[in-house]
Amino acid sequence: MYVDVLIGLQWGDEGKGKIVDYLADRYDIVARFQGGPNAGHTLKVNGETFVLHTIPSGIFHGHITNVIGNGVVIDPITFKKEVEKLNVIGVDATAKLMVSNKAHLILPTHKLLDAASEARKGQSKIGSTLRGIGPTYMDQTGRNGLRVGDIVASDFQAKYEALKEKHLELLKFYNYEADLPALEQEWMESLDCLRSLPLINAEYYLNEALASGKRILAEGAQGSMLDVNFGTYPYVTSSNTLTAGACIGLGVAPSKIREVYGISKAYCTRVGGGPFPTELLGEEGEKLRQLGGEFGATTGRPRRCGWMDLPALRYAAMLNGLTKLIITKIDVLNSFEELQVCTDYEVDGQTVRDLPYDLCSATVKPLYQNFKGWNQPITGSLPFEQLPEEITRYIAFIENYLNVPAILISTGPHRDDLVVRA
Ligand code: GDP
Ligand code: IMO
Ligand code: MG
Repeated sequence: MYVDVLIGLQWGDEGKGKIVDYLADRYDIVARFQGGPNAGHTLKVNGETFVLHTIPSGIFHGHITNVIGNGVVIDPITFKKEVEKLNVIGVDATAKLMVSNKAHLILPTHKLLDAASEARKGQSKIGSTLRGIGPTYMDQTGRNGLRVGDIVASDFQAKYEALKEKHLELLKFYNYEADLPALEQEWMESLDCLRSLPLINAEYYLNEALASGKRILAEGAQGSMLDVNFGTYPYVTSSNTLTAGACIGLGVAPSKIREVYGISKAYCTRVGGGPFPTELLGEEGEKLRQLGGEFGATTGRPRRCGWMDLPALRYAAMLNGLTKLIITKIDVLNSFEELQVCTDYEVDGQTVRDLPYDLCSATVKPLYQNFKGWNQPITGSLPFEQLPEEITRYIAFIENYLNVPAILISTGPHRDDLVVRA
């Protein structure tokens, strides 16, 4: 019937996992379309916390078929561990999971190349999650990659060896040494877990599902400001994190897309290097980090924290064709007397709303508007009308700035900590 797309509007970790899990009841299929195990999507279900890296966040719903699309890059080791962890809590992931045979594989040497490249960059490193994401996408566009479909072909070993040899040459250039045989053995063994799943032409499966009236939710990873084309380049990831990435990463046409759900925290975070105009380096940033539990779900690194950045959010809304806004972590602001929201940038003495070409080298001064905090403990599920006026004013300001309605406001990490407006 249609594809709705859910993406992060900031620098990742907006709460996509929680919201996909909540929205999943409205769909038949949840499909991941890009990224890989650099993602960490946290779900809190029945008091248990679970972090998904590769498996779509619809996995806790019995009626949902989960699809890993061709745009995703898969590390068989992480993937197997994820399947096993789900098994331990009684979720048979393999019963309701399919994988595109065109998804690319992350080899052990991709991870080594990621580490070598970062080490060589020194101070200007990207702050990659070191999961091998960049080198794997480079091999895809360089037309050297290994794909999921290759693991069941008779020439798999030869293809693997050829790519590995190429990587070893590159690693020599970087002077990078590692114990490859140990990594390789675990990698080879873990391929059987992938082989046990339906490895399909997912583009046909999804288009046939659409033709037979099924509803698909496309789950994005990372965030719009980490997009390889429009993010804060070069401090970005290596995939297309925007709505358009769902078409490429699943094989569905733009005309099949209905709603675009974009998620933003009520403030802003980023992990890794790169520009962050509204970053708070002092006490307020630390307060946000502690109250928001802002430590990476994949790497455990402390996330950098700052105020809401509306020029960046407006850019993301434009690029994604945003139709519905979802605001998360409003509860993290419960104890702030005063909030600030960046409404414009000052660049070279000019007040602007458009992002400069190179946010990395431009001197950007955020211009703020102050808002009174609500200073009371708001959490759980409650009607919008019961929210304090200070929250509704804050939300209305963001909605008006973006000209997009906020349909869900998340007030805590659990599935039901939500104010639902539509
Ligand atoms: P994702 O990568 O976009 O899925 O987000 P992450 O899982 O990396 O990070 C979001 C974090 O915030 C997780 O620890 C969630 O459990 C938590 N979280 C999600 N929504 C809320 C919320 O509304 N309030 C609070 N306090 N935590 C939330
Ligand atoms: P989810 O899906 C936050 C960041 C890294 C680094 C940059 C490049 O959980 O929101 P990479 O490993 O992709 O080469 O790293 O992108 N990054 C994320 N930040 N959330 C993520 O995913 C991220 N995935 C990558 O920290 O700055
Ligand atoms: Mg995350």
